[in-house]
Amino acid sequence: MPLDLGAKGSCQIGGNISTNAGGLRLFRYGSLHATVLGLEVVLPDGTILDVLNTLKKDNTGYHLSHLFIGAEGTLGFVTKVVIQCPVKPSSTHVTFLGVDSFDTVLKIVKLARSNLGEILSSCEMMDHEGVQSVSSKFDIQIPVKKCPFYMLLETSGSNQEHDSAKLSKFLEDGLENNVILDAVMFSEQSKIQKIWPLQRCGSCLKDATYNYDISLSLQDFYSIIPIMRERLKDQDVVTVCGYGHLGDGNLHVNISVREPNPAVYALVEPFIYEWTSQHKGSISAEHGIGLAKKHVIHLSKSETSLTLMRQIKQMMDPNQIMNPYKVF
Ligand SMILES: Cc1cc2nc3c(=O)[nH]c(=O)nc-3n(C[C@H](O)[C@H](O)[C@H](O)COP(=O)(O)OP(=O)(O)OC[C@H]3O[C@@H](n4cnc5c(N)ncnc54)[C@H](O)[C@@H]3O)c2cc1C
Ligand SMILES: *[C@@H]1O[C@H](CO)[C@@H](O)[C@H](O)[C@H]1NC(C)=O
Ligand SMILES: *[C@@H]1O[C@H](CO)[C@@H](O)[C@H](O)[C@H]1NC(C)=O
Repeated sequence: MPLDLGAKGSCQIGGNISTNAGGLRLFRYGSLHATVLGLEVVLPDGTILDVLNTLKKDNTGYHLSHLFIGAEGTLGFVTKVVIQCPVKPSSTHVTFLGVDSFDTVLKIVKLARSNLGEILSSCEMMDHEGVQSVSSKFDIQIPVKKCPFYMLLETSGSNQEHDSAKLSKFLEDGLENNVILDAVMFSEQSKIQKIWPLQRCGSCLKDATYNYDISLSLQDFYSIIPIMRERLKDQDVVTVCGYGHLGDGNLHVNISVREPNPAVYALVEPFIYEWTSQHKGSISAEHGIGLAKKHVIHLSKSETSLTLMRQIKQMMDPNQIMNPYKVF
């Protein structure tokens, strides 16, 4: 299954498809729009739409399956799916890096793409504040010396020796040129399992948290964090941290406070959405629109797109019985 999510174990395939859930392997396998080949869907009027295509190539008109991927259940019930599954890689390595600045993080992404290209399967970054909070909360030691930024890179391939040699060479070059300040590398599954939680950062903070899930181009990727810290410097805020998937430009912003705080909230929203829109980002990289972001969808979609989306919804579900009040 070309998908690895926080929700694995509880989620179901209909939910996976309808949320277009991305997760940790999107960098390698693409989104479900890439891996889902066909669907069976029960339409709001009870008609069964069979677009259970099993072909990789099929240019015969509109690709109707794609309408339902990420539709948040607003257009029909997904009842069957054809999904292309890759062969599971036999060799996995993870490296955890300490880095001095976000500019250097970007250099490492470039380096990793060119030196590890075909085996690179995840490329994540976390700031110190985020990692520190997970580390103390879950008692996981940060495996490198204290640095402003950390990165977690994963490689997946078919040849243990080859992959490990490639990754070692990448680390040696990075350390020699002072691009990487400190690094560890793991190839045992048990150690890899222990290191991944450091990437989940804010998801552990028990305080009230304002969470955002935005996409930005890599040059703007981290800029919102220092801007937010500056904006909130006189407020009672525990941490403002950022972590995300560099492979797909998805940044998670967690602003944690001791208790729900209207003054903080007013400084954060709608500012963060407007800033993201001005920088041509997406106000919802992974988490969809649902009820919570209906009022800001226009910051990521043009009026023309919204009109067309409403027309499609109206045409397919004139009685508004599918997940009413969601998205629009
Ligand atoms: C919009 C959205 C995007 C998300 N993206 C990510 C992500 O990128 N990465 C990640 O780790 N987690 C993500 N999540 C978390 C999410 O819980 C999981 O991704 C998981 O895939 C959801 O599956 P579930 O079975 O728990 O679905 P549920 O929580 O039961 O349902 C999720 C949505 O899908 C609809 N739905 C469920 N089954 C069907 C069906 N058979 N046909 C039609 N509609 C259906 C529901 O009405 C609901 O709107 C996302 C959540 C949402 C709401
Ligand atoms: C949905 O995705 C999760 C995440 O990888 C996976 O564990 C689960 O098996 C998927 N659900 C189904 C029914 O395939
Ligand atoms: C931090 O943000 C991420 C992404 O929005 C979210 O998954 C996580 O649950 C957040 N943490 C808390 C404590 O809510």
